[in-house]
Amino acid sequence: MVIAQCKKLIKIYSSAQNFRALDEVSLSIKQGEFVSIMGPSGCGKSTLLNILGLLDEPTGGEYLLEGVPTARLNDARRTQLRRNHIGFIFQSFNLMPRLSVLENIALPMRYSDMPRADILPRARELAVRVGLEKKLHSTPLQLSGGQCQRVACARSLANNPSIILADEPTGNLDSKSSADILDLLQDLNKNGMTIIMVTHDPKIAAGTHRTIHMKDGKIL
Ligand SMILES: Nc1ncnc2c1ncn2[C@@H]1O[C@H](COP(=O)(O)OP(=O)(O)OP(=O)(O)O)[C@@H](O)[C@H]1O
Ligand SMILES: [Mg+2]
Repeated sequence: MVIAQCKKLIKIYSSAQNFRALDEVSLSIKQGEFVSIMGPSGCGKSTLLNILGLLDEPTGGEYLLEGVPTARLNDARRTQLRRNHIGFIFQSFNLMPRLSVLENIALPMRYSDMPRADILPRARELAVRVGLEKKLHSTPLQLSGGQCQRVACARSLANNPSIILADEPTGNLDSKSSADILDLLQDLNKNGMTIIMVTHDPKIAAGTHRTIHMKDGKIL
């Protein structure tokens, strides 16, 4: 089953002299795939990921998420689709510095309609799944970069998404921690998760099923 389909996506940033960041990008991602996206800085990788994650809208073309055309969704419906179907992992972790590991993982569930009583037990379960059972009450400043990214991985799973989008998840990590995060993502993928990951590191890309190469807003 195709889970994400882009047809001739165009993204023009009108704020930047109508710069064309995506130029007719067509792409099909099947359920259960682990895809990497590579390409030089500024070629449109994050722009594409943001559209796939319903964080941004294309200027032209079509994007279907699980067969649903996304162009005419109102804001409330887009937000709902995003919260229920997409998990995000970012290069800079984007954790809340004052919240514990457990509370960081729980955060997306607090904005969902999950029964309150289920939230902390699920957050704990996810923390164990990423190997952080001994750090539940630590805050991000007390963790290594690799551990922070584990928290972000667990948080991305909070609402049981159908796709994880990762924008250079190993970009701030040393090679050992990078390999650990790749392991973790591969493990999630083996359990059925669809993952789309931007990376600059050919060794990390080699651990995925398929690599998409981009240049100047196009897929090569
Ligand atoms: N909000 C914005 N407004 C104007 N221009 C933007 C905006 N976001 C991105 N761009 C431009 O669009 C192009 C693609 O940016 P994008 O962030 O997608 O690149 P990237 O491939 O992710 O690069 P990197 O590897 O450095 O993260 C760049 O030239 C960038 O300057
Ligand atoms: Mg980027």
